[in-house]
Amino acid sequence: MRAEARQDPAAGTESVVAAWARDNPRSGALHARARRLLPAGVTHDARLAKPFPLAVERADGARKWDLDGHELICYVMGHGSLLLGHGHPAVVAAVREQATRSFHPGACHELESEWAEAVIRLVPSAERVRFTSSGTEATLLALRLARAATGRGKVIRLAGHFHGWHDQVAIGADPPFDGPDTAGLPPGIVSSVVTIPADAAALAEALAAGDVAAVILEPSGAAWGTVPLPAGFLQAAGRLADESGALLVFDEVISGFRWAPGGVQQLSGVRPDLTALGKILSGGMPGGAVCGRADVMDHLGAVRHDPRRVAHPGTHNAHPLSAAAGVTALGLVASGEAQDGAARLAASLRGELTSVFERCGVAGRAYGESSTFHLLLGPDGPEELDPATLKSGPARQVSAALHCSMLRWGVHLFRGSGFLSTAHSERDVEQTAAALAATLRQLQAEGLV
Ligand SMILES: Cc1ncc(COP(=O)(O)O)c(C=O)c1O
Repeated sequence: MRAEARQDPAAGTESVVAAWARDNPRSGALHARARRLLPAGVTHDARLAKPFPLAVERADGARKWDLDGHELICYVMGHGSLLLGHGHPAVVAAVREQATRSFHPGACHELESEWAEAVIRLVPSAERVRFTSSGTEATLLALRLARAATGRGKVIRLAGHFHGWHDQVAIGADPPFDGPDTAGLPPGIVSSVVTIPADAAALAEALAAGDVAAVILEPSGAAWGTVPLPAGFLQAAGRLADESGALLVFDEVISGFRWAPGGVQQLSGVRPDLTALGKILSGGMPGGAVCGRADVMDHLGAVRHDPRRVAHPGTHNAHPLSAAAGVTALGLVASGEAQDGAARLAASLRGELTSVFERCGVAGRAYGESSTFHLLLGPDGPEELDPATLKSGPARQVSAALHCSMLRWGVHLFRGSGFLSTAHSERDVEQTAAALAATLRQLQAEGLV
């Protein structure tokens, strides 16, 4: 635990947001510089934070060090891509080794086939694989393939589910889920996307006209289980999509290789037609992939003038450095032991954090699945709350204070949630529970909870 936070005489009299800003002058100065160069001073919308974003200098295992020298337990873990922790030695060695051979041969290479073999071995529905440069590109390509294979134009998506930032998925992901999440969409695209709740009757109705190319969803529930899916929904979605001739697309960019070596599809037994992958796929390096039914994927291989051909160039598809990291990471997670260990620790962390809420007399809990957790303030559990409330985070009015206080006690959360890795330990669980206890006392002192 960070001694300076424990001994801070100002704690309780100065707002924790102001105290964190005072303790992090270098992050603050970098943000002032970045604001003159980068819109809003960030390169990912999720990094926008009050009073300013945290800047990190280096990371190792489950820990990282911010620009002002504070050691932090990292629960952001490369936005979920680092199941093996920061800088896993085998992954780093594979990238180093490949860097000496070629960054980019401008030709086919052995690692791309090795990487595809690993995906096909692990992901139950994968018959063919096409690599992309990101998860966003993977969902973009999956939807294009679905439109090409069905000859239909519409896409059904579930309210709150996140699939990256391309045009057809930048609709219905953010509360209140009733329209575009962004300015700048091409005219006509909004009418090609139908956003529905995770409800089998609503899905049946939306599919009834027979004009839907794809049903895309996060099989973990929206935002990696922040909004759990109703029991049996995946099975119903598989059946209904099949009956209507639409393709079922699982977005396993986060759940893939984390929930199990074969993702949620391995655990649920539901086999999607197409799957979007990313994150752990490339061992923390940039990358993504679409995999699935050979007859659908083979639209990518059709000859140039075939009207069914799906075009897909991309300078960095299956980039050798990403492939080297990916092949190594997938080898290390293939047995399921890595996932089981991280999930056991996450269950212990969720239990400890929920007990802290009880002990502090603050209504709230930690919930989640696999090696993840989500903090929730208030008396209701995730089953009682609507998706908009759950996706709004631990409680909008305290999120900056909660975030800053956890940082002051040495814990970096990802918008009130977190990913664990094989590098996290029981010591991290204990320290995180102590940080939450101190944070809840701080929030109580500030009259925020
Ligand atoms: C479920 C899901 N799909 C797609 C994406 C987009 O992936 P990327 O950020 O690599 O474009 C993300 C990113 O967080 C995601 O969580």
